[in-house]
Amino acid sequence: METILSGMQPTGHLHLGNYEGALKNWVTLQDTYEMYLCIVDWHSLTEEVENTAVLADRVFQMAVDFLAGGIDPQKAAVFIQSDVKEHAELHLLLSMLVTVPTLTRLPTYIEKREEKGLDTYGFLGYPVLQAADILVYNAHKVPVGRDQEKHIWLAADLAKRFNNLYGPTFNEPQVLLAKFPAIPVLDGRKMSKSLNNHIALVDDEETTVKKLRTMFTDPQKLRKGDPGRPEICPVYTLHQIYTPDHADIPAPCRSGQLGCVDCKMRLAVNLNQALAPIREKRKKLVDNRGYVFDVLRDGADRARRKTAETMAKVRENMKLIYR
Ligand code: TRP
Repeated sequence: METILSGMQPTGHLHLGNYEGALKNWVTLQDTYEMYLCIVDWHSLTEEVENTAVLADRVFQMAVDFLAGGIDPQKAAVFIQSDVKEHAELHLLLSMLVTVPTLTRLPTYIEKREEKGLDTYGFLGYPVLQAADILVYNAHKVPVGRDQEKHIWLAADLAKRFNNLYGPTFNEPQVLLAKFPAIPVLDGRKMSKSLNNHIALVDDEETTVKKLRTMFTDPQKLRKGDPGRPEICPVYTLHQIYTPDHADIPAPCRSGQLGCVDCKMRLAVNLNQALAPIREKRKKLVDNRGYVFDVLRDGADRARRKTAETMAKVRENMKLIYR
């Protein structure tokens, strides 16, 4: 069985984009791979080092979202990065094999550095820690979005460089891109936590209705009767995912017969129906903290068993065993 690892920063609650783009894919992969799912709290420190008190609840909520969304802890090991110290050890060793210009050239680094004014050593090393997350499980594949592709390539480069220097040790991990529909935000801006411009798994039905009511549609369709263009309408994009008979929508939208409010309320019913089982499971898990932390503890035990094996080999191949 091949090994898969993926990670997600504990940013708070998973939104529809995380669910459709990542979690749903992981749920299908957990049957056919040895799977490790890591809540990367150390990565979050790159932005939250002055705000660490928020992490505990975010980590818990993320674990809840994973389980509610269909991750089976019997199949996948779900764990917190900082529970498995080998990530840090390998991060340090890999940091010796990567040059600073390689890291400062990464688009993710350039963009985020500007946007957030980040300039720490830890932030520069973000992709090296990510490479360690992957290689410490000797993962074959890494399911991530396109925005993460270059980070996985860096991990593969580091694996190759390590193998050349010290002998065959790591697989060169590959990106596993999932096909999934792009989930539009509610207001045409950039997806953002602070703007709260997305629907979260944790939202209740009423909140979902409220959020959809304010959602942007075709800007040329101002009132019922105006002709709409479903092909550019983000509400219709969501219909295509959540409304089984969405083929009935374009004609009355174009003719003006179907108003945006009615159209959105139809979507709300379908979206709420699709999310109902997840939300129900979510509530039970939130009331059962002990169980969620048991899952995370068990996941970390399994993760450590795997990483101990890798690190023994790494230390041996690097000749770091002195007695
Ligand atoms: N950088 C990833 C993101 O922002 C999160 C992440 C950290 C990750 N470590 C990982 C993803 C290892 C895949 C594998 O989405």
